[in-house]
Amino acid sequence: MLRELVANGIEGLPHPDAMVTYGAKNSIERLKGTAIVPDDIYTYYSFDELKEHFPKSLKKGVRVLKQNRGSTGERIWRVELKNPKKYQGAIPLDAELKLTEAKDNHTETKILQDFLEFCIQYLEGNSGMIVDMPFLERIKEGEIRILMLRDKVMNVVHKKPASSKDAFSATLFSGAKYRYDTPEKWPDLVQLAEGMVPIIREKLGNYDIPLIWTADFILDTDKKTGKDKYILGEINASCVGFSTHLELSDNIADEVLDLMDAESVVNNKWGAFTK
Ligand SMILES: Nc1ncnc2c1ncn2[C@@H]1O[C@H](COP(=O)(O)OP(=O)(O)O)[C@@H](O)[C@H]1O
Ligand SMILES: [Mg+2]
Repeated sequence: MLRELVANGIEGLPHPDAMVTYGAKNSIERLKGTAIVPDDIYTYYSFDELKEHFPKSLKKGVRVLKQNRGSTGERIWRVELKNPKKYQGAIPLDAELKLTEAKDNHTETKILQDFLEFCIQYLEGNSGMIVDMPFLERIKEGEIRILMLRDKVMNVVHKKPASSKDAFSATLFSGAKYRYDTPEKWPDLVQLAEGMVPIIREKLGNYDIPLIWTADFILDTDKKTGKDKYILGEINASCVGFSTHLELSDNIADEVLDLMDAESVVNNKWGAFTK
Protein backbone atom coordinates (compact mmCIF):
# COMPACT_ATOMS: atom_id res chain seq x y z
CA MET A 1 0.00 0.00 0.00
CA LEU A 2 2.81 2.43 0.87
CA ARG A 3 4.49 1.73 -2.47
CA GLU A 4 1.25 2.52 -4.28
CA LEU A 5 0.83 5.79 -2.40
CA VAL A 6 4.37 6.82 -3.30
CA ALA A 7 3.78 5.86 -6.94
CA ASN A 8 0.81 8.25 -6.85
CA GLY A 9 2.84 11.23 -5.80
CA ILE A 10 2.86 11.08 -2.02
CA GLU A 11 6.28 11.50 -0.50
CA GLY A 12 7.33 8.47 1.54
CA LEU A 13 9.69 9.21 4.41
CA PRO A 14 11.50 7.03 3.75
CA HIS A 15 10.36 5.32 0.58
CA PRO A 16 9.22 1.84 1.67
CA ASP A 17 11.86 0.18 -0.51
CA ALA A 18 14.57 2.29 1.13
CA MET A 19 13.25 1.34 4.55
CA VAL A 20 13.35 -2.36 3.69
CA THR A 21 16.80 -2.14 2.07
CA TYR A 22 18.49 -0.17 4.84
CA GLY A 23 16.86 -2.26 7.56
CA ALA A 24 17.61 -5.68 6.05
CA LYS A 25 20.35 -7.56 7.86
CA ASN A 26 22.31 -8.01 4.60
CA SER A 27 22.77 -4.23 4.22
CA ILE A 28 26.11 -4.58 6.00
CA GLU A 29 27.23 -7.22 3.52
CA ARG A 30 26.38 -4.81 0.70
CA LEU A 31 28.91 -2.42 2.23
CA LYS A 32 31.71 -4.98 1.89
CA GLY A 33 34.87 -3.38 0.53
CA THR A 34 34.44 -0.29 2.72
CA ALA A 35 36.40 0.31 5.92
CA ILE A 36 33.39 -0.06 8.22
CA VAL A 37 32.58 -3.74 7.63
CA PRO A 38 34.78 -6.84 7.87
CA ASP A 39 35.86 -8.65 4.70
CA ASP A 40 34.59 -12.01 5.87
CA ILE A 41 30.93 -11.28 6.04
CA TYR A 42 28.48 -13.46 4.10
CA THR A 43 24.77 -13.79 3.50
CA TYR A 44 23.15 -17.18 2.99
CA TYR A 45 19.83 -17.43 1.18
CA SER A 46 19.64 -21.23 0.94
CA PHE A 47 20.40 -24.21 3.15
CA ASP A 48 23.01 -25.41 0.64
CA GLU A 49 24.94 -22.14 0.87
CA LEU A 50 24.75 -22.20 4.65
CA LYS A 51 25.87 -25.80 4.94
CA GLU A 52 28.67 -25.37 2.42
CA HIS A 53 30.15 -22.17 3.79
CA PHE A 54 29.33 -21.76 7.47
CA PRO A 55 31.70 -24.54 8.69
CA LYS A 56 34.52 -22.70 6.86
CA SER A 57 33.67 -19.46 8.65
CA LEU A 58 33.60 -21.25 11.97
CA LYS A 59 37.09 -22.54 11.32
CA LYS A 60 38.31 -18.91 11.35
CA GLY A 61 36.88 -18.19 14.80
CA VAL A 62 33.79 -17.24 16.74
CA ARG A 63 30.92 -16.05 14.53
CA VAL A 64 27.63 -14.19 14.85
CA LEU A 65 24.70 -15.43 12.77
CA LYS A 66 21.80 -13.05 12.22
CA GLN A 67 18.46 -13.83 10.71
CA ASN A 68 16.58 -11.10 8.90
CA ARG A 69 13.34 -10.82 10.85
CA GLY A 70 12.79 -10.06 14.48
CA SER A 71 14.75 -7.64 16.59
CA THR A 72 16.00 -7.02 20.11
CA GLY A 73 18.51 -9.80 19.78
CA GLU A 74 15.98 -12.49 19.01
CA ARG A 75 17.46 -15.20 16.78
CA ILE A 76 20.87 -13.52 16.74
CA TRP A 77 23.35 -16.23 17.73
CA ARG A 78 26.97 -16.14 18.76
CA VAL A 79 28.37 -19.47 17.59
CA GLU A 80 31.61 -20.96 18.86
CA LEU A 81 33.26 -24.37 18.78
CA LYS A 82 33.41 -26.02 22.19
CA ASN A 83 36.84 -27.51 21.37
CA PRO A 84 38.38 -25.40 18.62
CA LYS A 85 41.81 -27.04 18.98
CA LYS A 86 40.37 -30.50 18.31
CA TYR A 87 40.04 -30.02 14.55
CA GLN A 88 42.97 -29.84 12.15
CA GLY A 89 41.07 -29.88 8.86
CA ALA A 90 37.42 -29.15 8.08
CA ILE A 91 34.94 -28.79 10.94
CA PRO A 92 32.88 -32.01 11.04
CA LEU A 93 29.08 -31.99 11.25
CA ASP A 94 29.19 -33.58 14.69
CA ALA A 95 31.36 -30.79 16.15
CA GLU A 96 29.91 -29.47 19.41
CA LEU A 97 28.88 -25.84 19.44
CA LYS A 98 28.21 -23.38 22.21
CA LEU A 99 25.41 -21.04 21.16
CA THR A 100 24.47 -17.77 22.88
CA GLU A 101 21.33 -15.90 21.88
CA ALA A 102 21.48 -12.09 22.01
CA LYS A 103 17.89 -11.89 23.24
CA ASP A 104 18.80 -12.86 26.79
CA ASN A 105 22.39 -14.16 26.59
CA HIS A 106 21.24 -17.71 27.37
CA THR A 107 23.48 -20.50 26.11
CA GLU A 108 22.73 -23.85 24.46
CA THR A 109 24.77 -26.74 23.16
CA LYS A 110 24.09 -28.31 19.77
CA ILE A 111 26.11 -30.25 17.24
CA LEU A 112 26.80 -28.40 13.99
CA GLN A 113 24.44 -30.57 11.93
CA ASP A 114 21.51 -29.92 14.29
CA PHE A 115 22.22 -26.21 14.43
CA LEU A 116 22.35 -25.92 10.63
CA GLU A 117 18.99 -27.68 10.41
CA PHE A 118 17.59 -25.46 13.17
CA CYS A 119 18.53 -22.43 11.02
CA ILE A 120 16.36 -23.56 8.08
CA GLN A 121 13.45 -21.61 9.59
CA TYR A 122 15.43 -18.37 9.13
CA LEU A 123 15.78 -19.03 5.40
CA GLU A 124 12.09 -19.50 4.71
CA GLY A 125 9.91 -16.94 2.91
CA ASN A 126 10.73 -13.99 0.66
CA SER A 127 12.98 -12.12 3.04
CA GLY A 128 14.60 -15.20 4.54
CA MET A 129 18.37 -14.87 4.91
CA ILE A 130 21.16 -15.37 7.42
CA VAL A 131 24.12 -13.02 7.77
CA ASP A 132 27.37 -14.50 9.04
CA MET A 133 29.99 -12.15 10.48
CA PRO A 134 32.93 -12.42 12.87
CA PHE A 135 32.16 -12.02 16.56
CA LEU A 136 33.71 -8.73 17.70
CA GLU A 137 34.84 -9.34 21.26
CA ARG A 138 35.10 -5.62 22.04
CA ILE A 139 31.31 -5.62 22.15
CA LYS A 140 31.87 -5.89 25.91
CA GLU A 141 33.02 -2.25 25.77
CA GLY A 142 29.67 -1.39 24.25
CA GLU A 143 27.74 -0.94 21.04
CA ILE A 144 27.56 2.64 19.87
CA ARG A 145 24.36 3.67 18.14
CA ILE A 146 24.18 6.85 16.12
CA LEU A 147 20.73 8.27 15.52
CA MET A 148 20.70 9.84 12.08
CA LEU A 149 18.45 12.56 10.73
CA ARG A 150 19.11 12.12 7.00
CA ASP A 151 22.89 12.68 6.68
CA LYS A 152 23.55 14.14 10.15
CA VAL A 153 24.27 12.43 13.45
CA MET A 154 21.77 13.78 16.00
CA ASN A 155 22.40 11.64 19.02
CA VAL A 156 24.65 8.85 20.25
CA VAL A 157 23.64 5.98 22.52
CA HIS A 158 26.30 3.94 24.22
CA LYS A 159 24.94 0.49 25.07
CA LYS A 160 27.03 -1.63 27.37
CA PRO A 161 26.14 -5.32 27.63
CA ALA A 162 25.55 -6.82 31.08
CA SER A 163 28.75 -7.84 32.83
CA SER A 164 27.87 -11.54 33.23
CA LYS A 165 30.23 -14.08 31.64
CA ASP A 166 28.36 -14.90 28.45
CA ALA A 167 26.73 -11.52 27.89
CA PHE A 168 27.31 -9.90 24.50
CA SER A 169 23.89 -8.41 23.84
CA ALA A 170 23.41 -4.65 23.80
CA THR A 171 19.62 -4.90 23.91
CA LEU A 172 17.79 -3.29 26.82
CA PHE A 173 15.88 -6.42 27.86
CA SER A 174 19.09 -8.43 28.20
CA GLY A 175 20.31 -6.09 30.93
CA ALA A 176 22.53 -3.76 28.89
CA LYS A 177 23.05 -0.25 30.26
CA TYR A 178 22.29 2.74 28.01
CA ARG A 179 23.89 6.14 28.12
CA TYR A 180 22.74 9.00 25.87
CA ASP A 181 25.48 11.28 24.57
CA THR A 182 25.61 14.33 22.33
CA PRO A 183 27.48 13.90 19.02
CA GLU A 184 30.23 16.26 20.30
CA LYS A 185 31.35 13.47 22.64
CA TRP A 186 32.11 11.19 19.66
CA PRO A 187 33.92 13.39 17.09
CA ASP A 188 35.80 10.56 15.34
CA LEU A 189 32.75 8.38 14.94
CA VAL A 190 30.58 11.28 13.79
CA GLN A 191 33.16 12.29 11.19
CA LEU A 192 33.49 8.71 9.98
CA ALA A 193 29.73 8.11 9.79
CA GLU A 194 28.80 11.39 8.12
CA GLY A 195 31.63 10.87 5.64
CA MET A 196 30.29 7.40 4.85
CA VAL A 197 26.72 8.48 4.14
CA PRO A 198 27.22 9.08 0.38
CA ILE A 199 28.88 5.65 0.04
CA ILE A 200 26.17 3.92 2.09
CA ARG A 201 23.53 5.64 -0.04
CA GLU A 202 25.16 4.52 -3.26
CA LYS A 203 25.84 0.94 -2.16
CA LEU A 204 22.29 0.50 -0.86
CA GLY A 205 20.60 1.46 -4.11
CA ASN A 206 20.75 5.28 -4.31
CA TYR A 207 17.48 5.90 -2.50
CA ASP A 208 16.94 9.21 -0.75
CA ILE A 209 18.55 8.85 2.65
CA PRO A 210 15.89 7.84 5.22
CA LEU A 211 14.49 10.64 7.38
CA ILE A 212 15.33 8.86 10.65
CA TRP A 213 17.60 5.85 10.87
CA THR A 214 20.27 4.40 13.09
CA ALA A 215 23.62 2.69 12.63
CA ASP A 216 25.22 0.55 15.32
CA PHE A 217 28.98 0.32 15.63
CA ILE A 218 31.26 -1.99 17.61
CA LEU A 219 34.94 -1.30 18.22
CA ASP A 220 37.59 -3.53 16.71
CA THR A 221 41.39 -3.31 16.63
CA ASP A 222 43.08 -2.83 13.28
CA LYS A 223 45.51 -5.78 12.96
CA LYS A 224 48.05 -3.78 10.97
CA THR A 225 48.15 -0.53 12.90
CA GLY A 226 46.88 -1.62 16.33
CA LYS A 227 44.49 1.34 16.24
CA ASP A 228 40.80 1.33 17.11
CA LYS A 229 38.36 1.00 14.27
CA TYR A 230 34.60 1.10 14.17
CA ILE A 231 32.70 -1.77 12.57
CA LEU A 232 29.08 -1.44 11.52
CA GLY A 233 26.89 -4.18 12.98
CA GLU A 234 23.50 -3.18 11.64
CA ILE A 235 21.31 -0.39 10.34
CA ASN A 236 17.74 0.17 11.49
CA ALA A 237 15.36 2.26 9.42
CA SER A 238 11.91 1.35 10.70
CA CYS A 239 10.33 1.75 14.12
CA VAL A 240 13.43 3.61 15.26
CA GLY A 241 12.88 4.81 18.84
CA PHE A 242 12.01 8.42 18.05
CA SER A 243 9.66 8.45 21.05
CA THR A 244 12.70 8.43 23.29
CA HIS A 245 14.24 11.42 21.50
CA LEU A 246 11.45 13.96 21.66
CA GLU A 247 13.96 16.79 21.97
CA LEU A 248 14.71 16.19 18.28
CA SER A 249 11.15 16.81 17.10
CA ASP A 250 11.88 20.41 15.98
CA ASN A 251 14.79 19.27 13.83
CA ILE A 252 12.68 16.54 12.31
CA ALA A 253 9.77 18.90 11.59
CA ASP A 254 12.18 21.32 9.88
CA GLU A 255 13.58 18.52 7.76
CA VAL A 256 10.09 17.41 6.72
CA LEU A 257 9.09 20.98 5.78
CA ASP A 258 12.25 21.42 3.70
CA LEU A 259 11.49 18.19 1.92
CA MET A 260 7.93 19.23 1.20
CA ASP A 261 9.17 22.50 -0.31
CA ALA A 262 11.73 20.70 -2.42
CA GLU A 263 9.19 18.12 -3.52
CA SER A 264 6.56 20.67 -4.56
CA VAL A 265 9.08 22.05 -7.09
CA VAL A 266 9.58 18.74 -8.88
CA ASN A 267 6.35 16.86 -8.19
CA ASN A 268 3.22 18.59 -9.38
CA LYS A 269 0.95 15.98 -7.83
CA TRP A 270 2.43 16.82 -4.44
CA GLY A 271 1.68 20.55 -4.85
CA ALA A 272 -2.04 19.80 -5.17
CA PHE A 273 -1.93 17.64 -2.09
CA THR A 274 -0.48 20.34 0.16
CA LYS A 275 -3.23 22.91 -0.58
N1 LIG B 1 29.55 -9.08 15.09
C1 LIG B 1 29.17 -8.94 16.36
N2 LIG B 1 30.06 -9.06 17.37
C2 LIG B 1 29.68 -8.94 18.66
N3 LIG B 1 28.41 -8.71 19.06
C3 LIG B 1 27.48 -8.57 18.11
C4 LIG B 1 27.79 -8.67 16.71
N4 LIG B 1 26.64 -8.50 16.01
C5 LIG B 1 25.67 -8.31 16.91
N5 LIG B 1 26.15 -8.35 18.18
C6 LIG B 1 25.38 -8.18 19.43
O1 LIG B 1 24.09 -8.73 19.23
C7 LIG B 1 23.08 -7.75 19.42
C8 LIG B 1 21.93 -7.96 18.46
O2 LIG B 1 22.39 -7.94 17.11
P1 LIG B 1 21.80 -6.94 16.04
O3 LIG B 1 22.50 -7.17 14.77
O4 LIG B 1 21.83 -5.57 16.60
O5 LIG B 1 20.30 -7.45 15.87
P2 LIG B 1 18.88 -6.92 16.38
O6 LIG B 1 19.11 -5.67 17.18
O7 LIG B 1 18.10 -6.68 15.15
O8 LIG B 1 18.33 -8.04 17.17
C9 LIG B 1 23.81 -6.42 19.23
O9 LIG B 1 23.15 -5.39 19.94
C10 LIG B 1 25.19 -6.72 19.80
O10 LIG B 1 25.17 -6.62 21.22
MG1 LIG C 1 20.43 -4.13 17.03
